[in-house]
Amino acid sequence: MCGIIGINATEPYTSQELLSRLKKLEYRGYDSWGYWNGTQLVKKVGKIEVSDDQQAVNVAISHTRWATHGGVNEKNAHPHRAGKVTIVHNGIIDNWKELRTGLEAKGRGFRSETDSEAIAHYIDTALNEGKDILAIIKLLIEEIHGTFASLIMIDGDDTLYAMKRDSPLALGVCKDRMILGSDIYAFSDTTNEAIFFENDEYATIRPTGYTFYKNGEELVKEAKAFKWTTMEEDKQEYAHFMLKEIHEEPSVNQRLIDSLQTEQDVHFKELVDLIKNAKKTVFTAAGTAYHASLLGASFLHKCGVNAQAIIASEFENFITIDDETLVIAVSQSGETMDVIEALKYSKDKGATIASIVNVPYSTIERMSSLSLQILAGQEVAVASTKAFANQATVMLALAQEFGYANGLAGMPKKLAGVLAFEPELQKLAQELHEHRDLYVLGRGLGYPVAREIALKIKEISYVHAEGMMGGELKHGTIALIENGTPVISLVYNDDPKMRSSTQEVKARGARTIVIGTTPQAELNVPAESEAEFAILASTLGQLLAYYIALARNLPIDKPRNLAKSVTVL
Ligand code: G6P
Repeated sequence: MCGIIGINATEPYTSQELLSRLKKLEYRGYDSWGYWNGTQLVKKVGKIEVSDDQQAVNVAISHTRWATHGGVNEKNAHPHRAGKVTIVHNGIIDNWKELRTGLEAKGRGFRSETDSEAIAHYIDTALNEGKDILAIIKLLIEEIHGTFASLIMIDGDDTLYAMKRDSPLALGVCKDRMILGSDIYAFSDTTNEAIFFENDEYATIRPTGYTFYKNGEELVKEAKAFKWTTMEEDKQEYAHFMLKEIHEEPSVNQRLIDSLQTEQDVHFKELVDLIKNAKKTVFTAAGTAYHASLLGASFLHKCGVNAQAIIASEFENFITIDDETLVIAVSQSGETMDVIEALKYSKDKGATIASIVNVPYSTIERMSSLSLQILAGQEVAVASTKAFANQATVMLALAQEFGYANGLAGMPKKLAGVLAFEPELQKLAQELHEHRDLYVLGRGLGYPVAREIALKIKEISYVHAEGMMGGELKHGTIALIENGTPVISLVYNDDPKMRSSTQEVKARGARTIVIGTTPQAELNVPAESEAEFAILASTLGQLLAYYIALARNLPIDKPRNLAKSVTVL
């Protein structure tokens, strides 16, 4: 949700550098964008355009937006400016109305409908009252309820100010410049030294130095060296990042499996021990990562481990947590706010926290006492693909330690084999892309996969797709089946129950498509176990969703209304 970048450099730089860095964060939100470089305030609706403007400055801030408060228009785009103060903000200020009313009573005129603008007016008003900027930021942090990663510039002051609570913020330390960004992608091409802001910390950033504070006290914070590959940031010969990322599944899967036996071996074994010692294991996640969690819970359940998967946004409502519970957060970005909230709740209840993440040094990783990395590399496309394959593979590896041996070692090769289905899937997509509704049915391990395939189709092709338990179909949804309605059935090993669910819809005129493991299936996946089938069928579904969206000529990598990293509740 929103990406922010601020650079303070020894040598002047142009908006090209600022915006090409902002572009790296565009997956966090892309409805509008803007920047302030001390003289120019640029705000635009749509995707970031990196202009060839040659004006060079030493300090600037920028923002790419996923709207929360206020519609998508130039007025609501960031930065927001009030008097001599300019700010960008990622997060949500819960008490913005009270702040705004108080500031309006002091004669401040607001230009936008955003919660964020209050930050700029608050600071400018206090500066006019003669207060010191650090004292103002300290007080503001006390008075704001809600979440923020915010960068602040003041006219005539070449220091960059930053503050954070719950929304992510990192400082990339380079020899000749400091780069503030929502995550390490902002600067990972130029430095591997970073400092991560913790809650309620604020900082003054100069071109070659920084000072961190909390509650008015100066903090000692050292830059940490991080490891991250930038090799995957390029689209190469592919038309879309999504297709490229699906094609990377075999190689990143191999990388993951190797690392679980080498550099991640110790952590992996520690996680297995945590599961062994816990009274129950609860996975929590959102979206695609939740579907991988459902697979994980089911794999472990098959080995007699007490495991569940709970959607993070409903965590408190559906599970009892205590100090004998192990909570494992699963998250590609490591920044999903619903997941962070579920972890805070679990910590308060005394649970042990572990995580399975893709982006290293993310908030969720830092909140966990133990974390495994899925090593999928950067996912640029908003729809998650290779991360899902690797999340599910970690689950398989964990379950294998409890006796669930299901072809882990052969997974990269099998994933490569699924790519051979592309021409068939392209043909199928041609047939399906004009339908308004589509259903995906699965049982057991096929159920999370049915939901994942439906989610992929909804996200990028805007076709209404429902993924459901085959057995639940007859309890209501079957009323929606009409002549020609497409229904995809996931049938492992000719499962008779799934066969009959398929027959039930066929009898009512549905166009049935069986993804299975026998020659009768329309798409016959070469899987030797149910777990293998689940992972391979998911990749098949990713490709089908891709080709449906392609046939509909949609912006596949950046679908409308979505953001890859959802850092608001
Ligand atoms: C967003 C993304 C989804 C993703 C979900 C969870 O909704 O659009 O693709 O699955 O967040 O994200 P996470 O980073 O926690 O895996």
